[in-house]
Amino acid sequence: NTNKIPVIAIDGPSASGKGTVAQLVARKLGFHYLDSGALYRLVALKTMQLNTDTQNPIAVAEIAIHLNVFFKDEHIYLDDTIVTNAIRTEQCGIVASQLAAYPQVRAALTERQRAFRQLPGLVTDGRDMGSVIFPDAVLKIYLTASAEVRAQRRYKQLIEKGMNANIADLLQDIQKRDERDSSRSIAPLQQGVDAKLLDTTSLTISQAQDAVLSWYNDMLART
Ligand code: DC
Repeated sequence: NTNKIPVIAIDGPSASGKGTVAQLVARKLGFHYLDSGALYRLVALKTMQLNTDTQNPIAVAEIAIHLNVFFKDEHIYLDDTIVTNAIRTEQCGIVASQLAAYPQVRAALTERQRAFRQLPGLVTDGRDMGSVIFPDAVLKIYLTASAEVRAQRRYKQLIEKGMNANIADLLQDIQKRDERDSSRSIAPLQQGVDAKLLDTTSLTISQAQDAVLSWYNDMLART
């Protein structure tokens, strides 16, 4: 029974910094970490590699079911090849967001995500971690920032990885992705009533991390 294993669920829009914050919190607490967006990006990458029709939910769900992925330290392996950077391209993010709207694809990834719930605990980030995958998470956070600040952060991230980027294009992508992720009928991106809002527009990464840790400690003190 894994129901007693604590989960901290951090959901939010694209490029909000939720991944960075979630990883830091996980490290601080010695918890496991799941980047659920990486799973959707991996399905997108594999779909493109196989030239599978992205409009065919059944075929894409089949890929999701059989996805041969392995997370080790900071790296992600797909069929034994390191794809840590390959899945971070804007194209992969856009296709991931399209495929993520298919209920069959989401269903195919549900158990895979829940399997990350292991002792001593899990910090996870995505769009539906608190609403669908781990509804009994002990702490749920909706982490966001203005679209402009998110575009700047994504720009910095891509440039640091040696990739090409353009702020105006990134801002447009982010707005389009927000719109698609929030308006889909299944597991849309939205702040749940039981999720705490963490707006990081004018916060540093370390301030955002401290806010999550302090909420977690408050929660522990109350129980
Ligand atoms: O967090 P990210 O940008 O790496 O996620 C890529 C896409 O995957 C995102 O646009 C929507 C989808 N996604 C999702 O639908 N549900 C999740 N829990 C995580 C990501």
